Amino acid sequence: MSAHPAPATADLDVAALRAEFPILHQEINGRPLVYLDNAASAQRPSCVIDAMAEYYRHDHANVHRGVHTLSDRATRAFEAARETVARFINADRSSEVIWTRGTTEAINLVAQSFARPRLGPGDDIVITTMEHHANIVPWQMVAEQTGARLRVAPITRSGELDLDAFEALLGERTRLVAVSHVSNSLGTINPVSKMVALARERGIPVLLDGAQAGPHLTIDVQALGCDFYAFSGHKLFGPTGIGVLWGREALLDAMPPWHGGGEMIRTVSFEKSTWNELPFKFEAGTPHIAGAIGLGRALEWFMAQDRTALAAHEDALLARCTAVIEALPGLRIIGTAKDKVSLVSFVADDVHAHDLGTILDHQGVAIRTGHHCTMPLLEWYGVPATARASMAFYNTHEEIEVFGQALERALAMFRN
Ligand code: ALA
Repeated sequence: MSAHPAPATADLDVAALRAEFPILHQEINGRPLVYLDNAASAQRPSCVIDAMAEYYRHDHANVHRGVHTLSDRATRAFEAARETVARFINADRSSEVIWTRGTTEAINLVAQSFARPRLGPGDDIVITTMEHHANIVPWQMVAEQTGARLRVAPITRSGELDLDAFEALLGERTRLVAVSHVSNSLGTINPVSKMVALARERGIPVLLDGAQAGPHLTIDVQALGCDFYAFSGHKLFGPTGIGVLWGREALLDAMPPWHGGGEMIRTVSFEKSTWNELPFKFEAGTPHIAGAIGLGRALEWFMAQDRTALAAHEDALLARCTAVIEALPGLRIIGTAKDKVSLVSFVADDVHAHDLGTILDHQGVAIRTGHHCTMPLLEWYGVPATARASMAFYNTHEEIEVFGQALERALAMFRN
């Protein structure tokens, strides 16, 4: 009998879900794969792989450029995917959806095209202690370019934002707030609606880094009230190399292009060029067409699921994984916020996270170890690295048991 009995998650057939994800059905080092690295990159269902293969087999040509049939087909599929993204985040219009390579590129776009022209010496950008490097470094770069300052809102030991301290940082010179919707290292779900409200009542625009939120939460950019929202395809069961920046039309309209080249122009002469309309103004060059189509298919698939049941199952997996780790001696969970998505970061007092990760892999269990691209956060916690198990809806309670047993064996190995 299992040490941590599984609560039944009503109405969710996890076996049927798993059947749609071919990669999950393999052995690693002679053991069935237990994939618990979904926060780094999730897996994709067959329909996404098929949609991309079909596109390349039958429909590929460049988009927005040809009068021929294939170009028309590719353009329609590419723009249909943009419409799907708009529905997924409840954007008012699909012209506010800009394709990027991922969250990182989306944030860099806002840093260089929105922030850079507006910032000067003495101006502030407010972030938080729990940001991913992608939501730190682009702001450091723009601060260096403009003389602006980066202000960092503190968190509590449990990994929750200190909302009062955040509010106190919002001042006359705050030009932008940039925060993660969900922390990739801690799993914390930030109170972003409150944060956006506090910023907006002072007229401060807000960018939300949604890389870790989309796979777990319903995203509604209009209800959130933010100004920019960024996310990546590969964490949302779609392809790598494709992501989205959503922005308010009025802001995007007022922003200069970031990358120059084909597609983003209306006219070009050697003296002067003029810019295309939204969203194309921000999409220089041939885009990742198959990636956009794959992401569109992934989001269609995801939206067709019973999202409430998926979330309930993930919550149950989180509770179980937490209990499994808490039951083992000498382990400490980093990130114990009340509102969390299904990931658990932890450290062992006496064993390095990388060693744990390696021995888990020998037993077929994939977790991430390291600083998770949040070096300042881990420094704040005083740890060089954590081990992180991150779960998706296709994970099972049995897998969490296997993870727990593998972890116990790894600890015993290093402690003996
Ligand atoms: N940011 C990704 C992670 O948390 C890569 O693993």
